[in-house]
Amino acid sequence: MLRSIVLGIGSHLPARVVTNDDLAQTVDTSDEWIRERTGITRRYFAADGETTSDLAVAASNRAIEDAGIERSSIDLVLVATSTPDNTFPATATAVQRKLGLPVGIAFDVQAVCAGFTYALSVADAMLVTGRARRALVIGAETFSRILDFSDRSTCVLFGDGAGAVVMAATEQSGRVTDRGVLATALGADGRQYEHLYVDGGVSTTRTVGVLRMNGREVFRHAVQRLSEAAIEVVAKAGLRIADVDFLIPHQANRRIIDAVGKRLDLPADHVVVTVDQHANTSAASIPLALDVAVKDGRIGKGDLLVLNAMGGGFTWGAALLRW
Ligand code: ACO
Repeated sequence: MLRSIVLGIGSHLPARVVTNDDLAQTVDTSDEWIRERTGITRRYFAADGETTSDLAVAASNRAIEDAGIERSSIDLVLVATSTPDNTFPATATAVQRKLGLPVGIAFDVQAVCAGFTYALSVADAMLVTGRARRALVIGAETFSRILDFSDRSTCVLFGDGAGAVVMAATEQSGRVTDRGVLATALGADGRQYEHLYVDGGVSTTRTVGVLRMNGREVFRHAVQRLSEAAIEVVAKAGLRIADVDFLIPHQANRRIIDAVGKRLDLPADHVVVTVDQHANTSAASIPLALDVAVKDGRIGKGDLLVLNAMGGGFTWGAALLRW
């Protein structure tokens, strides 16, 4: 049977580092509060004029190089983002153009922080059914552009960045020992729309708007949905959480990640954490964290991974992947 495997991975962060102390110079907050409540110590902000597609292109170049493929073979570009360069066309087409990719399929996936799990699932479906041959799947964000810096309860949580993977379908045995995507699980509950949203948009205010969040409700739902999605995706493949080598959760808050790890009964060294270094980069957070753990040698060929995320909507998703 055909399974989509990751051929290469790359990520990119903007040059500008913003520490908690830097933020505290203009926002009524402190390094101590942010560390204690979120685990975040720093985030990266894009420079003026540096767009989501710029970050995506830098991450993609690394992923393509890591995959060792000809870029001309990429026929599907998916960008998971809530901070597109323009309202249209899709940021994926800007990436396609900047990378000099041939004519193919390119579109954006909007599932906020769950976007990368949604995009991965779409790419997997298109690859194993032969609708595409080689996919570039990207999570990229410039969340600094939609933050209200007068709202200390949200502006300290987010950062900018991008991560990308190159994927292709390969013939495998159909057993759980196969490499590649073994299962995905997605969900959404529009009843929770108002807990996490941006207060502007094309057809409402004709403005971009800024992020609004009910932190406590998001926290509560995040722990539940992230845990459930991980259990569901593992069960779909006939495996157990105890079989998982690494959990790469969406990096929103250290306390959320710890609570999910505890619910799943996963030892701390089986959970990848980068929120301290990157803050919450929304759709970029999983590929950024995955890239860190691959490059530092923690994740190796054959390891069983669960990627899981929860975001505005609410949306959530998980992927079970053998590296
Ligand atoms: N600095 C200092 N004080 C602050 C700050 C800040 N940056 N932000 C809020 N406070 C104050 C509040 O004003 C409040 O003060 P008060 O008691 O005098 O009224 C106090 O801190 C406590 O505020 P709470 O909102 O109760 O703090 P809580 O412990 O719930 O932590 C937080 C807030 C960190 C936002 C938490 O609710 C959370 O992490 N929620 C999840 C949100 C999240 O991760 N969202 C990301 C997007 S969704 C996703 O990616 C899954």
